[in-house]
Amino acid sequence: MTFWARHQIFEKNSIILVVGILAVVAIGGLVEIVPLFYLKSTIEVVDGVRPYTPLELAGRNIYVREGCYLCHSQMIRSLRDEVERYGHFSLAAESMYDHPFQWGSKRTGPDLARVGAKYSDQWHVTHLMDPRSIVPQSVMPGYSFLAEAEVDASTIEAHLKTNRMVGVPYTDDQIANAEADLRAQADPDDAGVDAFAKRYPKAVVRNFDGKAGPPTEMDALVAYLQMLGTLVDFKLYNEKANLR
Ligand code: HEC
Repeated sequence: MTFWARHQIFEKNSIILVVGILAVVAIGGLVEIVPLFYLKSTIEVVDGVRPYTPLELAGRNIYVREGCYLCHSQMIRSLRDEVERYGHFSLAAESMYDHPFQWGSKRTGPDLARVGAKYSDQWHVTHLMDPRSIVPQSVMPGYSFLAEAEVDASTIEAHLKTNRMVGVPYTDDQIANAEADLRAQADPDDAGVDAFAKRYPKAVVRNFDGKAGPPTEMDALVAYLQMLGTLVDFKLYNEKANLR
């Protein structure tokens, strides 16, 4: 039988043709998918990335609750104009403890992936209270009520536990002290500041909203905004990856 005669078996019988197509397509699929089972992780390990502190996590919950992601993305693409405007492109590792991630899909306002340490706390408080006092043309809504609302610290332990269930490596110690740590991070005079700094080395302790009294939702949101994109030291990262 010649090749063409054998090929006629496929051409004359549609069921055999379908089975043949599936077999060929499956090979392509297997070649792409099977290697993934042998990778330990598709996220490269990057120094510096740590789970959120309780106050930052509370701030992140407020960010999600208020729908900030509807106008702001947190994902800098590896395109030149993005990198020049926002800084180093986002790494997968930088959102590995985000459940759910806040990459977003709409930019009415700028990307926020590296907004941390770009402005002062006072700038953020003023801007969140009344965006138009800083940027007259801004269409961003004001969130002045956050400054009056005390953070709900009673549920933060449960939030840490839930994050641990989906893979964030919080320790028993961090979970048991979540509420105390939340208060300590927003008050440099708090008795628990040293214990907090041991549990979260490198996290910043500050009175983020600049007001005395228990931590407000403003404290939490500003604490979150001020750490965004600051965990990875890109001088070290680029040296390692030889990307200078
Ligand atoms: C209706 C769309 C909209 C929503 C919702 C919104 N923003 Fe904005 N945001 C903007 C726009 C537009 C700008 C740019 C003008 C300005 O600075 O006000 C901006 C600017 C910012 C900036 C300054 C960024 C920079 O690099 O200069 C921050 C920080 C910010 N928003 C945080 C937030 C947070 C936090 C929330 C949720 C509580 C939020 N935004 C909700 C539209 C929005």
